[in-house]
Amino acid sequence: MRTLVTGGAGCIGSDLAAALLSQGHEVLVVDNLSSGKLDHIEPLLGLPKFRFMGGDLEDGSMLDSAMAGIDMVWHFAANPDVKFVEGEPTDKDLRQNTICTYNVLEAMRKHGVKQLAFSSTSAVYGVSPVQPIPESAFFPRPISLYGATKLACEGMISAFGNLFGMRCWIFRFVNIVGPKVRKKGRTVVGDFIARLQQNPGSLLILGDGQQAKSYLLTEECVAAMLFAVEHANESLNVFNLGCDDWLQVTSIADLVVRAMGLSGVSYEFTGGEGGWPGDVPRFRLDVGAINRLGWRAKLNSEQAVEQAVQSTLRMMQASR
Ligand SMILES: NC(=O)c1ccc[n+]([C@@H]2O[C@H](COP(=O)([O-])OP(=O)(O)OC[C@H]3O[C@@H](n4cnc5c(N)ncnc54)[C@H](O)[C@@H]3O)[C@@H](O)[C@H]2O)c1
Repeated sequence: MRTLVTGGAGCIGSDLAAALLSQGHEVLVVDNLSSGKLDHIEPLLGLPKFRFMGGDLEDGSMLDSAMAGIDMVWHFAANPDVKFVEGEPTDKDLRQNTICTYNVLEAMRKHGVKQLAFSSTSAVYGVSPVQPIPESAFFPRPISLYGATKLACEGMISAFGNLFGMRCWIFRFVNIVGPKVRKKGRTVVGDFIARLQQNPGSLLILGDGQQAKSYLLTEECVAAMLFAVEHANESLNVFNLGCDDWLQVTSIADLVVRAMGLSGVSYEFTGGEGGWPGDVPRFRLDVGAINRLGWRAKLNSEQAVEQAVQSTLRMMQASR
């Protein structure tokens, strides 16, 4: 199968691209390297079934030439950072998430491409009174621009799928952790390691440290998506992807401190329930649907974060 991976130079997209190649598929990665890195796909460059095209999904004519001859799109490109920074334009997520997703869908329609997998997020649910949150959560109410625009992407995908006969898989990820670090929009593991490298005596933790979220290792996330695409055949397939439990932010700090061989580190808190405006302080997702399909995470949140911390430190050491 000829596949297009948008955002394929990113942390998750690059692992997915490698997995697709190992299954024998052809892979074209389109990425503008805004938060991704060529390093992430360096081992793939030069493989006969792999191609990289530098480009922005806001550019319709670039997308048009990328889409020619494609059988399935894995759409991962997005502004990956949930945090809204005061002073930034409020249409950043709208353009990079919703408009770019529309551009991808429109190019698919023009070229008769009938299959799409999409990386959505737990942020579409916002603050839910029901925990764990099922896919059928009535009227999700996102509290961030990131979550709102990803929900809008899901709406566009549902409509294009219905109108133009596309089969689509929407994956709502919990926090995905692994060894790769983005250029910008650091995840909690990368953030704690970077702060402690700067100042090993004290760690600034956003919020009150009581936030509790679910975590899944990148390789498990990729395995779950490949499994779902193979086994779920509705016209629109929506899955929460994660594990059953959650982990407190202070426990992540403890794991990072221990893995870095530090002791006596004092924790400072910025305070407040969430780490930043739009942060959902506590969530875990109901993963019954993907479990019933036949896939279950091998690691719980603590094991996933522990592995991510170890592998991130190893990767940093190797690149010194
Ligand atoms: N990492 C997580 O915890 C998490 C959780 C929920 C959802 N997601 C979603 O998963 C996907 C991948 O996330 P990631 O963690 O690998 O982030 P990432 O930043 O590593 O990957 C995103 C990639 O998209 C590229 N990109 C962004 N805008 C683009 C554009 N307009 N045109 C072309 N390329 C563009 C970036 O350069 C980057 O390589 C994103 O859609 C993200 O929203 C991630």
